[in-house]
Amino acid sequence: MNQDAAKASAAEAALDLVRDGMKLGLGTGTTIEFVLQGLGRRRPRVACIATSARTEARARELGLDMLDPDEVVQLDLAIDGADEVQRGTLHLIKGLGGALLREKIVAAAAERFVVVADDSKIVDHLGSHAPVPVEVFPLCRRATAAALAKLGADPVLRGGAAPFVTDNGNLIYDCRFRSIADAKSVAGALEEIPGVLAHGVFLGMAQQAIIASADGKVRVLHRA
Ligand code: 5RP
Repeated sequence: MNQDAAKASAAEAALDLVRDGMKLGLGTGTTIEFVLQGLGRRRPRVACIATSARTEARARELGLDMLDPDEVVQLDLAIDGADEVQRGTLHLIKGLGGALLREKIVAAAAERFVVVADDSKIVDHLGSHAPVPVEVFPLCRRATAAALAKLGADPVLRGGAAPFVTDNGNLIYDCRFRSIADAKSVAGALEEIPGVLAHGVFLGMAQQAIIASADGKVRVLHRA
């Protein structure tokens, strides 16, 4: 069983949580693609909001009922992928797909936020493999990057000379903190930088992580 099959298994398990009548938040990424395909196949009577233009387009292609995000205050369930999932706390790093700002808003609006991933994403400390994506306001981006560097973040502009632009018209610095001992203080320090619009550290937001491994086993981790 390869990594894609593991992602598909995690997605199938998450789809079992979906009930008719739900308002559903849809994440972004390759694991969520399996969730979208499953919704297209199973056809529950749900209304969805998307965390990115890519997910929105794909969901519409599959015939899912999409809501205007501005009209939604609360969601019953949000399902999303992650770049790292910390064992025990279920703190996350998200945003390698560039959709972190909307993903955080959607996760916060959900009564239940469930992460789907293959087991390569499980870490003991955030920052073990993934950088922390930080979405910044394009104006004065160098000043924001200098403030990030002061935190020891080693910020790298995503896309370099041809910068990646988010769905919201902003830029992303991928920040390598290496292993993060205290995720709360890193998140707090990032939030104090005025040019930072969102960062990919999701603290205490996920209630459950559905993790599938290459041998086909699916585990449900609950926040400790
Ligand atoms: C996008 C994200 C994705 O959830 C994260 O990058 C995981 O993606 P994938 O399922 O492709 O590994 O945060 O902004």
